[in-house]
Amino acid sequence: MNTTRNYEYSLEIIEPKLFSSAVADEIVASVNEAISERGRATIALSGGSTPGAIYRLLAMPPRVDEIDWSKVALYWGDERWVSQDDNQSNYRMVQETLLSQLGERQPKVYPVDTSLDSPEATAAAYESLIRETEKCKAGAMPEFDLMLLGMGEDGHTASIFPDSPVFESETGICFAAKHPTDGTMRISLSPQAVMAARQILFIVKGESKAEMVERVLRGNEGEKALPSSIYRRAESRVSWFLDSGAALRVESARG
Ligand code: 6PG
Repeated sequence: MNTTRNYEYSLEIIEPKLFSSAVADEIVASVNEAISERGRATIALSGGSTPGAIYRLLAMPPRVDEIDWSKVALYWGDERWVSQDDNQSNYRMVQETLLSQLGERQPKVYPVDTSLDSPEATAAAYESLIRETEKCKAGAMPEFDLMLLGMGEDGHTASIFPDSPVFESETGICFAAKHPTDGTMRISLSPQAVMAARQILFIVKGESKAEMVERVLRGNEGEKALPSSIYRRAESRVSWFLDSGAALRVESARG
């Protein structure tokens, strides 16, 4: 049964070879809009394998010269609880694909400090850092200008995994997460922090994600089952950027 409903989110379907450049252009536009409106741009970066090519394009002409990097602040939407030089580190991936290519251009960079004693302490420290740098009032969420998100084949986003206990305690900005299959620990922004952003970009490519994209866009399986369904909390601020593989079953989802 196709549930048809009004859609407030935007959805772009892009040929695979044009995908990274289309997303990079959207990021440039979003960053420059934030800078022109508020004098700065805050970005929560996604990890995983999809965004690396996009970050590389942002660090190259012409796009690298289209952003005033001194007015950009970079955060991480989630991080693996590993050292920053570990090949699993999202910080390392951003360092290699973006930061190391920026030369004299100096954004403010706020990585997760994974040197602390526990994932819980790390999450608490990152939450304190964000509250301080983003001047969050007590109990309020930071409003990142741009939230970049991937989606796993199980429907997770950031490190908000299916059945995550974070859905029971909707108060904090960051939490410590356990990967459901490999048991590794991560630090993640919470659903409420993710969805408080001014613009939320889901960046999903590959046919392997098509079924999950359909299920999430249909939006009737609940957030705990499919955490990417949190997009429905603020559809009007959400854009889905899909390559043609990930979008194979979109029409059936949208009814
Ligand atoms: C991470 C990401 C995670 C990722 C999805 C999609 O740290 O791995 O935050 O949420 O975005 O798992 O990953 P791919 O881009 O590799 O498909």
